[in-house]
Amino acid sequence: MAQDPYTLFPIPTPVSDSHLTAFSTLRLLSLHTDPSRFCSTYARESVFTPDIWRSRLDDNNKVTFIVSTRSSLPPNDEEEEWVAMMTILGPAALRNIPHDTPVEISARGELFMIVSMWVHPTHRGKGLGSQLIRAGFDHVEKYQVGKLGDGYTGELKLLVLEVLKDNEDARRLYAKESFVEVGEGALCQGGGSVWMAKSFY
Ligand SMILES: CC(C)(COP(=O)(O)OP(=O)(O)OC[C@H]1O[C@@H](n2cnc3c(N)ncnc32)[C@H](O)[C@@H]1OP(=O)(O)O)[C@@H](O)C(=O)NCCC(=O)NCCS
Repeated sequence: MAQDPYTLFPIPTPVSDSHLTAFSTLRLLSLHTDPSRFCSTYARESVFTPDIWRSRLDDNNKVTFIVSTRSSLPPNDEEEEWVAMMTILGPAALRNIPHDTPVEISARGELFMIVSMWVHPTHRGKGLGSQLIRAGFDHVEKYQVGKLGDGYTGELKLLVLEVLKDNEDARRLYAKESFVEVGEGALCQGGGSVWMAKSFY
């Protein structure tokens, strides 16, 4: 868990209306603030209906972790603001989404993928990115064989992500959290990205 004054948690499902609003606001803020870091765009997602946002979150094959400014210690009834997020796609989700993970990686085990990682600029450099990644490690480590009825057989688990080559902050963060570079990617069809992976045995 993130250290005070922050709280880190997975968005519970089924998602509540207030969480839906907080999530869509945060995601749109990330696309608006750092358009060069994402393949999707503010223009595309700003016209999403509530049902589209809901279907993103009410999907058992994904989990989205949030960091909020709410203290995890009492009294904790102050106003909270969501300031960081990261989604992990599980093996079943990845079977339905086209991705160009290097074959030598995807052939080695069950894939999990980090997407939509973002920390609000005023909260960067405080370890929130690391905290989110470690929550992701915990999630992957605890992922149960057959939990989602998706055919997971208990082989090696690999947590992968694709990052633009010029995104040095993010690459340094992932390297610090023991991801290794495993191949070139073509993020957003534009090239200039690298795949990074971490194995779980
Ligand atoms: C990349 C990002 C998520 C990092 O979040 P963060 O909360 O600032 O990261 P942390 O505070 O946990 O930093 C962890 C490590 O990352 C590196 N790092 C992160 N930001 C850095 C910066 N501005 N300058 C130098 N190193 C940085 C450091 O190695 C740091 O280790 P340290 O704490 O020992 O110095 C954040 O900058 C961000 O949201 N960027 C825009 C969106 C983005 O690029 N997403 C990733 C897409 S793949």
